[in-house]
Amino acid sequence: MSMLDSWVDEVGLIGGNGSAVNRFAWTPELLAACEWLVERLRELGLNAEIDAAGNVIGRWDVDGADAGTAVLIGSHLDTVPDGGRFDGALGVLSGLEAIRRLKAEGFGPCRPLWIAAFNDEEGARFGTSMFGSTAFVGDDLTALRDRVGVDGVPLAEAMRQRGFDFDEVPRAKGIDGVGCYLELHIEQGPRMEAQSLDTAVVTAIVGIGGYRVTLRGQTNHAGTTPMGERRDALTGASRVVLALRDAALASGDVTANVGRIEVRPGGTNVIPGEAVFFVDIRTANPNIFPTLGNLVRDTVRTAATAEGLTAEIAVTYEHQPVPMDSELQELLGREMEAQGLAWASLSSGAGHDAQVLAPHVPTGMLFVPSQAGISHAPEEFTPPGQREPGVSVLTSVLKTLLLS
Ligand code: GLV
Ligand code: MN
Ligand code: MN
Ligand code: MN
Repeated sequence: MSMLDSWVDEVGLIGGNGSAVNRFAWTPELLAACEWLVERLRELGLNAEIDAAGNVIGRWDVDGADAGTAVLIGSHLDTVPDGGRFDGALGVLSGLEAIRRLKAEGFGPCRPLWIAAFNDEEGARFGTSMFGSTAFVGDDLTALRDRVGVDGVPLAEAMRQRGFDFDEVPRAKGIDGVGCYLELHIEQGPRMEAQSLDTAVVTAIVGIGGYRVTLRGQTNHAGTTPMGERRDALTGASRVVLALRDAALASGDVTANVGRIEVRPGGTNVIPGEAVFFVDIRTANPNIFPTLGNLVRDTVRTAATAEGLTAEIAVTYEHQPVPMDSELQELLGREMEAQGLAWASLSSGAGHDAQVLAPHVPTGMLFVPSQAGISHAPEEFTPPGQREPGVSVLTSVLKTLLLS
């Protein structure tokens, strides 16, 4: 078994049971995975630490005043609820393997090589998403101070429980030392397998809007309240789910999802007086993206009016659609060609830390396939033989970048 494959198995057991993995921001499970990575990086001779935002940052620095800015590689180690072993982790571990190979062959970089495992890319606990990379690029996160986790623990308190301080998060800014960013990731969709591709160059990353919607009606008796006189919050939520699904289907360029819903008070013989649900809506089209907020708001208002409900809408996350750097796309494509791989250029329907980095430094991504196109699920899998081409391309491209 290769080093990469044994690392995938080992990390998959941290917060995992061999298939489903649960590693959320500021939990012992995620921090254990981060500490595992710090140890591996130190064994390879890098300076490694967990920064003030919970990112693992490893630095292979080079001597000399003219060393220049770093090539940064990375991804994330946190997961969605009952997530897979590959989303994020394969990118981090492929980066670790690339560094191991460069060290093993005595490669001497002309500029620094850094690696990051960004904290809380998924936002599973606090609904924040891309917390760590946002801190790394120096963007303001103070608005998140009062966010409360799905477990009822406020973000600042969750950090304090692990020895971190929310006020120190700005110290995690590290972008000024970075010259470019590269992220390897699983595709998380079916296109590569359908086309029998080994690897893909990412052209652009989808824009993502996240909204928390609260609908309120009247809690009442399930059996005595006439059907025509109900103010049922879940019926309103159902209208929103279907209307957004239909709008997305009609557009062809949009995806819409409601993956989390809480209905109160939650009795089988009680009309739900309140429904809180989370909309995730996406498009790669930069002309459509600015219209999605109004689509959500109009859809919610229409449903609320139809069911006699009140509505509140809050933005929980927003990530702009971004193109990947054209020179890095060319470099990746040339290397895939040189290695004789079956490859193509594809856009990403998943969000990535790369879209947070892209407005700041030239950023590129490459994909390896996802078996049966399944992701954000325990069945997520990329067979060992399909991991290697990605690592090989990443390692070669790093050599080119580190010598320039
Ligand atoms: C990240 O995994 C996302 O696309 O939600
Ligand atoms: Mn994910
Ligand atoms: Mn991911
Ligand atoms: Mn910025």
